[in-house]
Amino acid sequence: MFPQRRLRRLRKRNLQPLFKETVISKNDLIAPVFFDETISEKKPISSMPGQYRYPLSDAAFVAQRIKSAGIRAMILFGIPNEKDYCGTSGWIEDGVIQKAVRTIKAKVPDMVVITDVCACEYTDHGHCGIIGESSDGMDLLNDTSLEVMARIAVSHARAGADMVAPSCMLDGMVVTIREALDCEGFEELPIMSYSTKFASALYGPFRDAADSGMSFGDRSTYQMRAENAREAYLESEMDLCEGADILMVKPAGFYHDVIMSVSSLGLPVAAYQVSGEYSMIKAASQNGWLDERKVAMESLVSIKRAGADLIITYFAEDAARWIDEEQ
Ligand code: PBG
Ligand code: ZN
Repeated sequence: MFPQRRLRRLRKRNLQPLFKETVISKNDLIAPVFFDETISEKKPISSMPGQYRYPLSDAAFVAQRIKSAGIRAMILFGIPNEKDYCGTSGWIEDGVIQKAVRTIKAKVPDMVVITDVCACEYTDHGHCGIIGESSDGMDLLNDTSLEVMARIAVSHARAGADMVAPSCMLDGMVVTIREALDCEGFEELPIMSYSTKFASALYGPFRDAADSGMSFGDRSTYQMRAENAREAYLESEMDLCEGADILMVKPAGFYHDVIMSVSSLGLPVAAYQVSGEYSMIKAASQNGWLDERKVAMESLVSIKRAGADLIITYFAEDAARWIDEEQ
């Protein structure tokens, strides 16, 4: 008798829902939000249709809107009034992120507020820390920049952040931040490390959004090359050893294999569906070439299926609505 095994039996329309192996829940999603100290009204980000830079006066409103959609967590990025050589506006007490965190935690206390810890939004040269002359020419100086990350992280903790997320890809960033936080009494504050972050061309729209492009060079001496899978695993393993609480793979969609290998380390894994991944889907949908909702949900399911526990995505609020409608 041919064929004996008929996998189509369980694909009858009424049976399909019983056999879904991967389910996306609103609890899995984290919404990225940009706060811009230099504006007083929200401003569309042209390379990311549907995304905005918000003024600080909108902080509580945006957090409330995200919460109402059923999303529990947001990650904040800041555009400061002033930039300088060492990124001072990144760690001052009344910096843009510090103010946004204080407002959100005061007005929407059960929102989980995660902060991106990096200097590229605050330095005038756009690199992720302190730059200087190295054997490789002008470059990001590792150990000098660690001090900056510790200051930024502690200032976010003091403002009331629920979690800090260092994204600079410096060696020793997690242990440096852990020690600084512990020293200041924030032993309980988790670190979500951007542990495996590739030097990806998919960050293009974000650099417009956060005004964090570089005045020279690129980030390839600190972020990873797309070719390297073993090194990707090692980067996350080292952050685990340094005390990270959550590991991250970024970008998400082109790096499913890396999400899978990093998830075998045992810590919770977040995957960042970055600006370029979002904008590609948006642009094709706006042209009528793709079905936005279907492609966006398929992209999120595929990231979860690869092994991510959490997904940072600009689709978070839309996806929450789509998930509700599917129930
Ligand atoms: C800052 C940072 C970047 C992103 C998140 N944190 C930009 C970069 O490394 O250039 C990218 C996010 C996105 O593209 O959506 N280091
Ligand atoms: Zn950076």
